[in-house]
Amino acid sequence: MRQKIVAGNWKMNKNLDEAKELIEVIKKEVKTGLEEGTRVIIAPSFVNLQSAVKNTEESVVEVAAQNMHQSKSGAFTGEVSADMLTNLGVNIVILGHSERREYFGETDELLAQKVDAALANGLEVIFCFGELLEDRKSSNHFAVVENQIKKALFHLKEEVFKNIVLAYEPVWAIGTGETASPEQAQEMHAFVRELFAKEYGKEIADTISILYGGSVKPANAKEIFSKLDVDGGLIGGAALKAEDFAAIIKSI
Ligand code: G3P
Repeated sequence: MRQKIVAGNWKMNKNLDEAKELIEVIKKEVKTGLEEGTRVIIAPSFVNLQSAVKNTEESVVEVAAQNMHQSKSGAFTGEVSADMLTNLGVNIVILGHSERREYFGETDELLAQKVDAALANGLEVIFCFGELLEDRKSSNHFAVVENQIKKALFHLKEEVFKNIVLAYEPVWAIGTGETASPEQAQEMHAFVRELFAKEYGKEIADTISILYGGSVKPANAKEIFSKLDVDGGLIGGAALKAEDFAAIIKSI
């Protein structure tokens, strides 16, 4: 059974006080009207994680990290390990976000190491992938996505996929207000699901959740989420406004 998930990637926003305030409003907003089984995840910055775990303990809201280092520990200034996250009570991590790939040079090969480290430490992974505008304009977007997924994930054994959520984020739609059409999202999600069916069989393909991310707003969420192979969303800007985030959650 595929899970319906709405996850908010806060990126580098909200100090500790602002995070606490936003979490309180989100908790109130999602207390009622949440469809049975829908998962709600927030991904604050590292400095807000411990507080977020504490402030969401009695609620349906789950907490994810936005990144982690692939090494167990060591001389990696500024980095955070899987063990540091799980020790805080954080059991989900976003990996492969396009901003990590673009600004911090994260390659598919490095992401394979990060995925391995996260899974080895019992973390659930939200794995991001997606094409650039020039890839789509040159009709290369399927090949780009296939390459990202095969290089980072297709070394894994099938049993670990119960701990992996996929997130398709066309880079040209992130933060731009230029959302992929529901049909474009469905087309890529179906393509990715077929990749998994060919590599791991229909059961894995039919049970892995694939989220869409890229300018999801209350106005477009319902139509995007209505598509057969869209299992929810990875939300950026709209996740920073509790009412918008709640409206998107209720659209699933
Ligand atoms: O990870 C989600 C994010 O990249 C989408 O951002 O602002 O387009 O919803 P936004």
